[in-house]
Amino acid sequence: MSNTVVVGTQWGDEGKGKVVDLLTAKADMVVRFQGGNNAGHTLVVGGKQFILHIIPSGILYEGKKCLIGNGVVVDPEVLLQEIQDLKMVGKEVTPERLSLSDKAHIIMPYHKAIDLAREAAKGRHKIGTTGRGIGPCYEDKVARTGVRAVDLTEPETLEEKIGTNLKEKNFFLTKFLDAEPLELKPILDRYLGMAERLVPFITDVSLELDQGIKANKNILFEGAQGTHLDVDHGTYPFVTSSNPVAGGACAGAGIGPNQLHHVVGIVKAYTTRVGAGPFVTELVDETGDYIQERGQEFGATTGRRRRCGWLDLVVVQDSVRLNGLDSLAITKLDVLTGLERLKICVGYEFDGERVTTRPASQRKLARCTPVYMEIPGWQEDISQARRLDQLPPQTLAYLETIEEITGVSVSIISVGAGREDTILVQDPF
Ligand code: GDP
Ligand code: IMO
Ligand code: MG
Repeated sequence: MSNTVVVGTQWGDEGKGKVVDLLTAKADMVVRFQGGNNAGHTLVVGGKQFILHIIPSGILYEGKKCLIGNGVVVDPEVLLQEIQDLKMVGKEVTPERLSLSDKAHIIMPYHKAIDLAREAAKGRHKIGTTGRGIGPCYEDKVARTGVRAVDLTEPETLEEKIGTNLKEKNFFLTKFLDAEPLELKPILDRYLGMAERLVPFITDVSLELDQGIKANKNILFEGAQGTHLDVDHGTYPFVTSSNPVAGGACAGAGIGPNQLHHVVGIVKAYTTRVGAGPFVTELVDETGDYIQERGQEFGATTGRRRRCGWLDLVVVQDSVRLNGLDSLAITKLDVLTGLERLKICVGYEFDGERVTTRPASQRKLARCTPVYMEIPGWQEDISQARRLDQLPPQTLAYLETIEEITGVSVSIISVGAGREDTILVQDPF
């Protein structure tokens, strides 16, 4: 038995979906442990693209169990739609294939309304959230007023909770955010209708994982977002409201730390960010446009154009420490093909001093400038490479630089969006 955690080391969209899909071949169970449908994980299998927001990326394999842990916030409408969409392409999602934790929190219409109205009120100071109600749902969880999946199995509890919450939410929506109030009856009816379809999936995920562990199953934990979007460790307040770091897998799935055996950090070969917030290596020139176009850097959830920049190893090194990374998966290496010279950020300069970790203060960070090392790029098409010795020497040098500076070895290299566009250097399982 070996359990592996996959986490993003940057600001999300590193290619976690592709790597999880790839590693599912060796896994028996695949678990999401945080975030919600703010995530957009893309898989390309047999030339067909699938974008998953809430169901774990292992779902395309037959016979693998997918689980949504207690740490996830679930929009039942999105989950049901995703189940339906998969059915349309011949993938039947039954309770045998998918479990939803009874302790997972449920995203309600007032969460989305507050998320959107609050962002609108912030104007140019907005976070640039996905508008899916993620933050407000986690707020209710911590405030101990949230609706949980288990409440969908008890209509009376559900009605009582929505009723109590609406009093407070409507006051906030109308008096503070200048938004429309919401009515209990239509929400209750809609959620009761969805509950009927979701109840068969609701179970104790922690218990199910424990049974898997005792039966020597391989478990794969699928992180969403990225380390620098972590509510504790990220570029606060420009973060999401959960803990995407590897440690979050324990609390968010209901297992102990001794059950995690390997942590893979996904590193995009350059850096992207969607939404607002500091980005030291951002490129607002034609090189940034080149990367954005070649990498097709548009958000998988909101369709927004992603901001692009050079690889920032200050960010990745922080992620090595924060997640205890055992190996790295380098993705989208093919996108850098054709650039004369490549820059890698190896430190920041702040008031004439060298900094090697991202400062907590936003003011300080805003004054940090990148310190780059420059290496030659490559012109060859590397998308057909399946072994290390098929990569040009400059590409190998780029990878070696990452390994040397982070002190972590590369286990996977991705040279295209497809499952097969991969060089497996060392199997994490
Ligand atoms: P995630 O949120 O971390 O799962 O990543 P996204 O799916 O949001 O974004 C990654 C995008 O890059 C998707 O469109 C993938 O299909 C694509 N992708 C993943 N790996 C590679 C790769 O190695 N090369 C190229 N060109 N595209 C890739
Ligand atoms: P995956 O799993 C990239 C960003 C949003 C915004 C901030 C807060 O596909 O990598 P939220 O809606 O979570 O309150 O928004 O976090 N964000 C992501 N950026 N990839 C994601 O997920 C993201 N999920 C949230 O753009 O800046
Ligand atoms: Mg994504």
